[in-house]
Amino acid sequence: MTKVATQDLRPGMVIGREVVTDDGVVLLESGTVLTAWQITNLHNWRIPAVDIAAAEASATRPARVPGSFLEDYVKTVDVIRHTFEHISLFREVPVLEMEELANQRIALLADTVGVLDYLYQIRLHSDHTFEHSLSVAITAAVIGRWRHIKGKELGDLILAGLLHDIGKLFVPPAILDKPGVLTPAEYEYIRRHPGEGHRLIAASPQIAEGVKLGVIQHHERRDGSGYPAGLAGDAIHDYAKIIAIADIYCAMTADRAYRRRLTPLAAIEVIAEDMRAKLDPEIGVTFLDNMRDCFTGSDVILSDGQRAKIVVLGGRDRYWTKPVVRSADGRMLDLREEGLSIVEIVQEN
Ligand SMILES: [Fe+2]
Repeated sequence: MTKVATQDLRPGMVIGREVVTDDGVVLLESGTVLTAWQITNLHNWRIPAVDIAAAEASATRPARVPGSFLEDYVKTVDVIRHTFEHISLFREVPVLEMEELANQRIALLADTVGVLDYLYQIRLHSDHTFEHSLSVAITAAVIGRWRHIKGKELGDLILAGLLHDIGKLFVPPAILDKPGVLTPAEYEYIRRHPGEGHRLIAASPQIAEGVKLGVIQHHERRDGSGYPAGLAGDAIHDYAKIIAIADIYCAMTADRAYRRRLTPLAAIEVIAEDMRAKLDPEIGVTFLDNMRDCFTGSDVILSDGQRAKIVVLGGRDRYWTKPVVRSADGRMLDLREEGLSIVEIVQEN
């Protein structure tokens, strides 16, 4: 058994001795094969080093996320965590720092080919507002690029994604992380977060108006069913429309303390359904068309346990978890007719 510094850990290494926090929380059992997100988690808990039994589990495929991406990601999470701690303590947003994060670190991460795939593999815990904010900022940047948004506007969109939930820093964790149904009073508390976030940046002359609107309007919906103002249609700023889609996608594809994450396809299916009345149809179509390109040809596990490859991935309809696939023995299966669905996407090396 060897002691390995957390910064030198790699996915696939096997834990030799239980990892416990100072408060006695068991983070990892002995024998666990490390995944990328568990390494992120060790950084988040500030665990300096762990005992490793073996450099690689023989039967396990290491995750495909390149070390350089993971390193940049972990560093960026760290900076955001510190900045958000500052915001919640002092009720003041360090604007220059946030702009620099958006225009440099996050724009670079979002530029990586396959970034959405990597984000999914790192298995973000969206319980933490700082991690959720980073994944929304990155995903919003990716959608923004697909919409040909560039330069200063792209930087502003990323900044709006980064700041969209800062109002949540003032919602009590007992409400934020409550697994069950919220009481009307608790829900009212949650509904205040876009306005709270906006209040923190409203008076800042350096922050563009679009960023402020992106923050306050990210829960507004096209049919007027959203909050806080119940705005409809084009009264909602484009940044807010993009962040709404990124927010739903990131929240559904991340594990929560009380539920396991969905596959990207299941999350896309929800977005396709919500496009009918709630989400912007043009941005939605851009999102769906590009996601179709990303996932066509992917290897998947079906609900009956068999492996298959996606051949034809839906139109713009609701059936994203039930496409046409080719089974391992070469048969073409229309999952809608077979009564099967996709339960997991296989990550290849
Ligand atoms: Fe939000």
